[in-house]
Parts: sequence; C-alpha cells; structure tokens
Amino acid sequence: MPLADVPLSLYVHFPWCVRKCPYCDFNSYTLRDELPEERYVAALEADLELQAREVAGREVISIFMGGGTPSLFSPEAIARVLAAARRHLRLADDVEVTLEANPGTIERGRFAEYRAAGVNRVSLGAQSFDAARLEALGRIHSPRETVRAAEELHAAGLTNFNLDLMYGLPGQDLPGALRDIEQALALEPAHVSHYQLTIEPGTVFAGVRPSLPTDEEIADMLPPVQERLAAAGFAQYEVSAYARPTRRCRHNLNYWTFGDYLGIGAGAHGKLTSAASGTIVRTSRIREPRRYLSSSAEPPVRREVQPAELPFEFAMNALRLTEGFSMGLFSRRTGLGAAAIEPTLSVLETRGLVARDGDRWYPTVVGLRFLNDALIEFLPDTPESAGKLRLSSAP
Ligand SMILES: C[S@@+](CC[C@H](N)C(=O)[O-])C[C@H]1O[C@@H](n2cnc3c(N)ncnc32)[C@H](O)[C@@H]1O
Ligand code: SF4
Repeated sequence: MPLADVPLSLYVHFPWCVRKCPYCDFNSYTLRDELPEERYVAALEADLELQAREVAGREVISIFMGGGTPSLFSPEAIARVLAAARRHLRLADDVEVTLEANPGTIERGRFAEYRAAGVNRVSLGAQSFDAARLEALGRIHSPRETVRAAEELHAAGLTNFNLDLMYGLPGQDLPGALRDIEQALALEPAHVSHYQLTIEPGTVFAGVRPSLPTDEEIADMLPPVQERLAAAGFAQYEVSAYARPTRRCRHNLNYWTFGDYLGIGAGAHGKLTSAASGTIVRTSRIREPRRYLSSSAEPPVRREVQPAELPFEFAMNALRLTEGFSMGLFSRRTGLGAAAIEPTLSVLETRGLVARDGDRWYPTVVGLRFLNDALIEFLPDTPESAGKLRLSSAP
C-alpha cells in the first residue's frame, strides 16, 4: 500500500476556556491566571518541529485548531502557529484551516484578523439560541452574542462556518429544539453539528445530574430536526454532522475515513501509518497544560495499534458516516483483508444495524442511533477493550 494514499491532517489543541462548562469532558480548563499565550505558542512550535519529521514530504490536507477555546488566542498567535505549520509541513494548495470559536470571546473585527492569519473555516459553539438553555449549560454568552459573531463571520468573508448545537437539553421540548434550528439556519451557516447532550463521567453534570427530557422525548426531537435541515439543503453525512453540498468538514472526514493526523498541543492525539511497515502508531501528549509547556520538545508517547484492534478502530470511525465505507477503503487503511471485518458486519446486518450496497457497508437509521451497540461487536477480547466506546470524534 503506497503511503501517499493515506491523507494527512494536523490537529492543534488549545486547552483553556473562560469558564469550564458543566457538561464538558474535553481536555479544557478554566483560565485562572493570565493566558500564557507566548509560552504556549512557543511550545506548539517546538512540538510541531519535532513531530513534523515523522511526516516529511507528505501533504497536509487540513488543519483543525480545537479546544478548549482557540479563540482566546490572539490573531497574531494563531498566525504564528500557522506560519510554523507552513515552515515544517507541506500544506495542500487548498488546505482547510478551521478555528473553533466561542461566541463569548469574539471582539469586533476579530474574525477578519483570523482570516488574514490563514483561517478559512470557523466552528462556532452556539449550543442553543434560548437564553434559559444557555444558562442551564453554564455558557458564557447570550444568543445575541452568537448572532453578532455570525454576522462578523459573514462580514469577514468567512462564510464557510459551522454552528455547534446541542439538543436534549434541560427543560427543552420539541418546539424548542426546532426553534434552535430555525435560528441557526437564519444565520446562514455552511455546516451544522447537532449533538445530543451526553452526561460524561467526571463532569459537574455527572455529580449533580440536571433534569433532562426523557429518552423518548429526545429521540422524537431528531426526525423533525433532520427534516428541517434537509429542507434547508443540509444533508446529514455523519451521526451529528449536516452540511450544504461541498461544505462537509474535510478534517473530520479524514478522521472518519481513518486517515492520518499529527496531534500537537496539551493532550493531543495523533495517528500515523508507517511507510516502511504499514503499522499504525497512535501518539499522545501530556494532558495537563503546565506540564505540556515544559515537555513539548520531547517525543510524544507512542503506542502501536495491534492488527486485532483495527476492525474496531476503523468501524468506530467509518460507521459514523451515513454512506459508510467500501471494503477497498478498509483494506487500504488497515492493511487487512475483508475476512477481518465481514463476519461481524454480517452479524450486524441480521440485527438490522448495518446494510450493504455492493461492496459498501453503511449504518441503517437504527444503526446510526445505536452505534455503540454495533461497535461492541468489533471489540477484540482484550482487557483494554472495556471503556473504549467513547464516541467523540475529536482527538
Ligand atoms: C470543544 S467544544 C467547541 C468549541 C468551544 N469550546 C465552545 O464550546 O464554544 C466542541 C463541541 O462539543 C459539544 N459538546 C461538548 N460536550 C458535550 C456533551 N457532553 N454532549 C454533547 N455535546 C458536547 C459542544 O457542542 C461543543 O461546542
Ligand atoms: S464546551 Fe467548549 S467552552 Fe465549554 S468547557 Fe468545553 S471546550 Fe470549553
């Protein structure tokens, strides 16, 4: 398998937020002191310089600056990170460069400066347009600030933007969920991510559980929301992702099609396929930001993915896509033959969780909704297998 066939992306993690949201289990921390912007960017530069050696000569198709809240960093800092990426990596002419932004951190004119720094896509954490819902979620911004941020995006020419929304919120009903969609569409995004609120271990909500709509009420919210999005031209292409034609997120698609990525920043993960052996290595950086600052020039922790783990690892990503995957893609990305995955897929087919169309396997509507039930079938019988079913797509 020629290595050039595995597309390569870059993920950059920014671990601080104005305030930690009570539902969030991302590697993010309330910023208590002054932002150590200069030191963090220098640490990212050292991290990138070191890790870029692993991918010398390979083209990078996308960069995703996620968090945390990358928009806490100044446009100058973001420009420095992107300059380092240009210095150490070979970027595709049409490289997609996404920045995650919290509407509560956007000053006037800020997006134009991010664009000048090289950002060409923004993901805005709207969550809801209902002030009471935002308060229940501990968000730092009002619906009005989200509207203003979207207006700034259009004014800056950054029309390729995503709005993150959550549903199944405390106190939310179906009309409320639909109102959120309506208000999101009015802002003319190119992409909508629509996540069901999940209660994650270790979060404030796991300790003091908010009162949520029932499972049935939450399940009933989805079809009308999807119909409304489809009518507005947003096709679902992944469990939680909807896009206008040509506006799918290339970066996330690379994760979901089991591509490679470098991961730099506190707690960032990477995945690289070796040219020589075809083995797949996962890398990880220390999570705690202060410790990352003093260790980013040292090699990341590396773990070789065993062939027995690959069907699960691949399925966990590719079965999130509504169009699923071809057996050819499975073989090109894992180096394994169809026999490594087809028996499990056939079991899931009889349970109505996946279906096939020629050599392409895809999740059914029920399969997409109960993806974890499907993925359990791919887990190898190892002690480490337990606890792997975290369906987040962000590395
Ligand atoms: C890393 S955050 C992105 C941006 C930025 N930090 C913000 O919140 O505005 C990514 C997205 O994940 C979603 N998310 C985080 N925790 C979640 C949870 N427990 N359940 C569902 N969605 C969640 C939110 O929609 C959030 O915008
Ligand atoms: S949801 Fe976003 S703003 Fe809230 S804590 Fe998580 S990363 Fe930070």
